[in-house]
Amino acid sequence: MSIDSNYFSLLSKLPPYVFSVVNELKYTARRNGNDVIDFGMGNPDQPTPKHIVEKLMESSVLSKNHRYSVSAGLPKLRLAISDWYKSNYDVSIDPETETIVTIGSKEGLSHLMLATLSPGEVVLVPDPCYPIHSFSVLIARGDVRSYDSFTEEKMIDSIIKGLNVDPKPKALILSFPSNPTTQTVDLDFFNKVVDIAKKYRIIVIHDFAYADICFDGFKAPSFLQAKDAKDVGVESFSMSKSYNMAGWRVGFMSGNKEIISALRRVKSYLDYGIFQPIQISAITALNQTKDCVHQISDTYKIRRNRLIDSFSNSGWIIEKPKATMFVWAEIPDKFKNLGSLEFSKMLIKECNVAVSPGIGFGKNGDNHVRFALIENEQRILQASRSIKKLFL
Ligand SMILES: Cc1ncc(COP(=O)(O)O)c(C=O)c1O
Repeated sequence: MSIDSNYFSLLSKLPPYVFSVVNELKYTARRNGNDVIDFGMGNPDQPTPKHIVEKLMESSVLSKNHRYSVSAGLPKLRLAISDWYKSNYDVSIDPETETIVTIGSKEGLSHLMLATLSPGEVVLVPDPCYPIHSFSVLIARGDVRSYDSFTEEKMIDSIIKGLNVDPKPKALILSFPSNPTTQTVDLDFFNKVVDIAKKYRIIVIHDFAYADICFDGFKAPSFLQAKDAKDVGVESFSMSKSYNMAGWRVGFMSGNKEIISALRRVKSYLDYGIFQPIQISAITALNQTKDCVHQISDTYKIRRNRLIDSFSNSGWIIEKPKATMFVWAEIPDKFKNLGSLEFSKMLIKECNVAVSPGIGFGKNGDNHVRFALIENEQRILQASRSIKKLFL
């Protein structure tokens, strides 16, 4: 018997990330001594706030915290999540039945798909999307049906169209503010989605990773604020972005108790909960003032302004996002025929600037590239000077 990758049928559905092509070029450029300014991955560059790190240090020396924890998350953390929903969104969440702690959003979303889908069941997924939204479905042996996620109107039409095709979808994935498109929606949109979900009897999964990274007075609504949202769906939140805790791997999912219970059951077989000191630090993060969250969001806002302004001076006019740690930039007309992958390669080779090609998020992303705002203002200016030569 010979074992190669064809032996594992799932692997053919999981091609190497498009992003790895750009990453390879980036590493090569760096090995050749070039200073690549890296806007590629949405990996926060700033430290976790001090009081959260201090709580981790304090709690990690206690041996009682070294044992297996609770798969669904510490009761006190679930209580803090419930309080967080009440104080931020005026939404009531029962800490016992309506929320579960996850090992980051990615883990929660992926296991939710395993818990709720049968092989061949269809899920409506935005195109473009954050890759795990589609790959979690494929990993669970489900089928992805894409909907157009550019404008609100198109989205509703495209979702309804997708719902009227056989086999009928079981679930709908949403994520606003959106990575990669930075698109935001208002509560009215979520109310419409709940009505649609009730009518077509589908479940809704909302990824709310950028809940707090909003600018210019905009506050992103929670899906759970929509009327009867808990009848049809759940919402996932990540501590990675709001608290710069990406490496800690902690998030939570809340909402419909049947869906939460399904995830809880699967996770009770798979894990023993996150290292307890991390959960204790997450309680500190959620219970304390939101000053640190505002500071983190302000840093992205300053970088966003710097990027939009300096790039526009260099000749690349880009729309200003209202939220997220990204800028979703339409490829300038004179380079559009290249497509996003070739354009991204060109940015590295000619300008030493690394971005994510839009095609990596879905075929509808191919006219764009995504900048993650993880370089400081000075480096952003350096990048804008470097791209100027493309427009001369
Ligand atoms: C939309 C979205 N969801 C989830 C995640 C991952 O979150 P976590 O670190 O909690 O797994 C990201 C990270 O970039 C994201 O952009």
